[in-house]
Amino acid sequence: AVERTLSIIKPDAVKKNAIGAILSRFEQAGLQVIAARMLQLSAADAGGFYAVHKDRPFYGELCAFMSSGPVLVSVLEGEGAIAKNRELMGATNPKDAAPGTIRADFAENIDANAVHGSDSAETAAWEIAYFFSKRELCPRS
Ligand code: CMP
Repeated sequence: AVERTLSIIKPDAVKKNAIGAILSRFEQAGLQVIAARMLQLSAADAGGFYAVHKDRPFYGELCAFMSSGPVLVSVLEGEGAIAKNRELMGATNPKDAAPGTIRADFAENIDANAVHGSDSAETAAWEIAYFFSKRELCPRS
């Protein structure tokens, strides 16, 4: 089925000037960027986005890192977009990420891991709505 997923290019990858390289991987895999915005999250923005992790030991560092510099948030659309994006990203910890994946090629460590992607259809709908209004979504068809 055609799905939508939320992608974030994290502060480490933005600092590396890798926005274009990462978006190219999505496009080359058949995903379309149907919305995109660059912004710097506040710690509260990051905290709200990652609220599901609020009891995890890494929550504080995660929010600090995600608000440490600009990010590019986007919505990717395509056949099986959620799983396809996760495949392109590779494992959360770049040490475990398969060769050729975005995290293997651009990530530093489990915190500065270059990209975020929604992990399910329910999460994707919630995460997309966190950043984008309906009129900001621009599907081709
Ligand atoms: P992301 O997909 O953005 O979702 C939550 C983030 O928390 C994750 O990527 C990692 O960057 C970060 N994180 C830090 N430590 C851990 C951990 N032990 N397990 C999962 N995620 C972690």
